[in-house]
Amino acid sequence: MSAVRGAKPTAPRLRTFENPEALARGVAQWLLGAVQARGGTCAVCLSGGSTPRRLYEVLTVPPVVTRFPWDDVHWFWGDERFVAPDHPDSNFRMVDEALLSVAPVPRENIHPIPTEDLSLADAAAAYEKVLKDFYGEDRLDPERPLFDVTLLGLGEDGHTASLFPGSPALADTERWVRGVEPPGLEPRITLTYPALDSSRIVAFLVAGARKREVLARALAGDPELPAARVHPVGDIVWFADRAAAPS
Ligand code: 6PG
Repeated sequence: MSAVRGAKPTAPRLRTFENPEALARGVAQWLLGAVQARGGTCAVCLSGGSTPRRLYEVLTVPPVVTRFPWDDVHWFWGDERFVAPDHPDSNFRMVDEALLSVAPVPRENIHPIPTEDLSLADAAAAYEKVLKDFYGEDRLDPERPLFDVTLLGLGEDGHTASLFPGSPALADTERWVRGVEPPGLEPRITLTYPALDSSRIVAFLVAGARKREVLARALAGDPELPAARVHPVGDIVWFADRAAAPS
């Protein structure tokens, strides 16, 4: 169950779907299977951005909504924009509108990244405490991943979560959560590699022709790309639509 950082992973698993709708429906079925396979308390780390929104919506309608073990699943975020939870750029707001306010999700199972009444650094520290309290230890054990499923996206520059090229957060091997201030973007809070790598399975969702070149590089393990440096203790699967998938 372990992959050495920087080691060339085996050929990545890529599953391609005809279009974004088929991608959302295919991944919804896959996610249902993954959480059912846990057969009990399960932690899912959510991706922000625009690509996963349709997936979140598909989880709230039949056939998935009636078969999904909502009481067992706890929801976390891989990153957040440092804005209010009702701000249009909020990843919490996106997931709440698409999924959490629609499906029968116990409120106590929802663990958003705090963004109010705290400094960026204090908010990151507060979320690290949320993760450690849920995990029950201060040190990550490779044999007991923090997350069962981690959903991640891929930016055109190769970023994932809010781990951007050139960011000092890329080298952080201690903290689980950090505040980052990407040039030209609002400040953000992101999980670091140690936390993201503590996953039974990482699933990347990638859609659209503008992602084709960067997806090909990520699948080839280009170390320039932060997304290509995610090496979970478990597995990785890439889900893409035909427009993004390498021909
Ligand atoms: C965010 C995400 C980020 C996202 C990529 C891809 O908060 O924006 O976590 O990593 O996944 O930027 O975004 P799109 O899906 O919108 O292309």
